[in-house]
Amino acid sequence: MSFRQKHLLGIETLARNEISAILDLADKYVDLNRADVKHADALNGLTQINMFFENSTRTQASFELAGKRLGADVMNMAMQASSIKKGETLIDTALTLNAMHPDLLVVRHPQSGAVDLLAQKVNCAVLNAGDGRHEHPTQALLDALTIRRAKGRLHRLNIAICGDIAHSRVARSNILLLHKMENRIRLIGPPTLVPAAFGEFGCEVYDDMTEGLKDVDVVMMLRLQKERMDGAFIPSTREYYHRFGLDADKLAHAKSDAIVMHPGPMNRGVEIDGTIADDINRSVIQEQVEMGVAVRMAAMDLLARNLRAARFAERVGKGETA
Ligand code: NCD
Repeated sequence: MSFRQKHLLGIETLARNEISAILDLADKYVDLNRADVKHADALNGLTQINMFFENSTRTQASFELAGKRLGADVMNMAMQASSIKKGETLIDTALTLNAMHPDLLVVRHPQSGAVDLLAQKVNCAVLNAGDGRHEHPTQALLDALTIRRAKGRLHRLNIAICGDIAHSRVARSNILLLHKMENRIRLIGPPTLVPAAFGEFGCEVYDDMTEGLKDVDVVMMLRLQKERMDGAFIPSTREYYHRFGLDADKLAHAKSDAIVMHPGPMNRGVEIDGTIADDINRSVIQEQVEMGVAVRMAAMDLLARNLRAARFAERVGKGETA
């Protein structure tokens, strides 16, 4: 099998064929999710624990549904209620949970790198559901699946990622994935929110929407991540909308069949005009949510296969299966 990972911590460590393996399997799960009976047995008997140290609506619901549709026992832990110091809490919680023998641990944490650290302390498969401004791999994968289905391919596309790039783990994971797949990426936003250093990663950087959106196939809008800003990055949200908010005039510069994406939650009238977001001919925002469940099913299925294989190999090594 081409998917060799023990965990899904980021896009950075994934090979091209591993990304394709997840997307190919996710395509099959899209069909299952559209059927009346939405059950498969890939995770039967396994325990999935969702640990969200940050608020989340769609990502947590999506992981929960994905696990349940594949037959796992799913438990949600509301970690944001805990006020204990983060470093300590994380390791302690990890060890406590580990003693309950989970098989899949889905973790969202406000600190970059926290999920990687946790993965080193437990002996189950860990999925990163977003760590600080570092990575959000399942978001990039569901975006990739949405693009691939809408455009019929996932290479040689012109893709604009617009807005608050600096604070966005969604942008980071998407840049990594879309680069691996050989697309041209443009980053558009005010210089305070688009670090010039990104230019060195092979992205083209623009601070003007009209110029940046010219002839693109995909327009990906991002939320202003105010919770991660420790100062004023924009003069006002009104001014921001005027210059960088996606409306019909600005979108007219993209290709006539360009699709509009947003990971949610959306701030209508700040980074995107509500009419564009709701335009079923342009916006694929609802498809993104649908693809999210399928991609998470695929990722957990593939990780569970590797987990079972590793456990089997361990038992053989100990002579337990003889
Ligand atoms: C994103 C996140 O949490 O990083 N949302 C999501 O997962 N759907 C983006 C955001 O919060 O703006």
